[in-house]
Amino acid sequence: MQSDSFKKIISHAKEYGFIFPSSEIYEGLSAVYDYGQNGVALKNNIREYWWKSMVQLHENIVGLDAAIFMHPTTWKASGHVDAFNDPLIDNKDSKKRYRADVLIEDYVAKIEAKISKEVFKASKRFGESFNKEQFLSTDQRVAALQSKANNILKRMAKSLENEDLADVKALIEDLEIACPESGSRNWTDVKQFNLMFGTKLGASADTAMNLFLRPETAQGIFVNFLNVQKSGRMRLPFGIAQTGKAFRNEIVARQFIFRMREFEQMEMQFFIPPGTQKEWYEYWKEKRLKWHYNLGLGVDNYRFHDHEKLAHYADAATDIEFQFPFGFKELEGIHSRTNFDLSNHEKYARKKLQYFDPVKNENYVPYVVETSIGLDRMFLAIFSKALTEETIQDGSKRTLLKIPPVLAPTKLAIFPLVKKDGLPEIAKRIVKDLKWDFTIAYDEKDAVGRRYRRQDALGTPYCVTIDHQTLEDETITIRDRDSMTQDRVPIKSLTRFLQTKLSLSELLKKL
Ligand code: GAP
Repeated sequence: MQSDSFKKIISHAKEYGFIFPSSEIYEGLSAVYDYGQNGVALKNNIREYWWKSMVQLHENIVGLDAAIFMHPTTWKASGHVDAFNDPLIDNKDSKKRYRADVLIEDYVAKIEAKISKEVFKASKRFGESFNKEQFLSTDQRVAALQSKANNILKRMAKSLENEDLADVKALIEDLEIACPESGSRNWTDVKQFNLMFGTKLGASADTAMNLFLRPETAQGIFVNFLNVQKSGRMRLPFGIAQTGKAFRNEIVARQFIFRMREFEQMEMQFFIPPGTQKEWYEYWKEKRLKWHYNLGLGVDNYRFHDHEKLAHYADAATDIEFQFPFGFKELEGIHSRTNFDLSNHEKYARKKLQYFDPVKNENYVPYVVETSIGLDRMFLAIFSKALTEETIQDGSKRTLLKIPPVLAPTKLAIFPLVKKDGLPEIAKRIVKDLKWDFTIAYDEKDAVGRRYRRQDALGTPYCVTIDHQTLEDETITIRDRDSMTQDRVPIKSLTRFLQTKLSLSELLKKL
């Protein structure tokens, strides 16, 4: 069930040209979405923030754009053919299909919500003297809830690790988890389901080659490791960054763009000498969290969640979780992938994928620490936190998108107060001067108040109005989206003002 606030997010995204259901005229396609005119701009800006923070700011990280189609053996070597599965379970009454692990995790999330409620109540009771850590470790009820949650997650991790699907079902039964749709506990057995989409390459049926659409962009990086290392004369440690589409036949694809069947990843593989993975893993955890904090969405909205069940390639893994409208969920993964991928590609391709270390004077297969974030999830994180409803001084309501100004699809809207007296000409001249550096909207329709509202709903951080005083002294008013304050400034100071407020370089410098 979607909460009202989440429904508002989805309808706002559609109404204001951010996200549309795919092929909507044919009733849409489940868990596939199109980005509209404003959505694509926001998405490009997020990608640019990520790309520059990785590639431009690190001398030892370079980019790549590998093809989506890859030789099918890639996926045998990577382990995806055998192990890229989700455990699914059906409810016999509602005929709805669920991910068994998600049902259990949702159950645990409810326990965690109870803990948060207890913490909140205690903080009110104790006031300023409240010590959260102390409360969590001494309150018996909270300790019991925490231990219950931990035990459930441990048991699930162990069962999944051992492929003991009967115990996963038993756990669902022990916890008396009911189908959210039918309310019944009439479950099928748990089965594994491979998430890769298959397709064919070639024209004739007998010679066509079975391919997979890539479920992660990372493998394009691994198979090009030596190409990049040699052609770029790269020395360890170094990274390869890539953004691009990935495809997964998700069992449960609810929650809008949180879990899609076609989505975009921004991944970076950092190649390192064996034995240094712990140190680099910690380094990238800290770096990535800082990248998130830097956007100013509120540090309380992030937390790490270490994996109990490690993916088939990892020796350590954590998620950066974000507080989405439906609770804390994975936004980004940081994985210490050992030399699993490169070693397996060596084996399957029968080609050496080794690095000659001039310091150690030896050849070895590098280890890898990966950072992997979904661009669409990042979009949802920003969009969901940005959407705000406010009652303003005159008692009316306004809806605004408090997108970090640097990422806003349109940076500036320019309005002539009226459509006459030469005001539109001045406004258009300003657009012409500034459009080289900023995305600008020009609007002369309706009263200025309504034009402000339209731009607020689109997340435009600044609106400039040209009025009759402009004719006299070449000044304009600039209005701030969040505070709604208006300042009168000379036209000639506009570029400088916008450059300071909307500079991606300034944001990057804070990293
Ligand atoms: N290369 C490692 C990897 O793919 P992952 O945890 O499976 O790891 C990384 O995915 C990130 O990709 C996730 O943290 C999430 O942001 C995003 N992601 C994964 N599946 C997704 C889906 N179905 N829809 C949208 N984003 C997804």
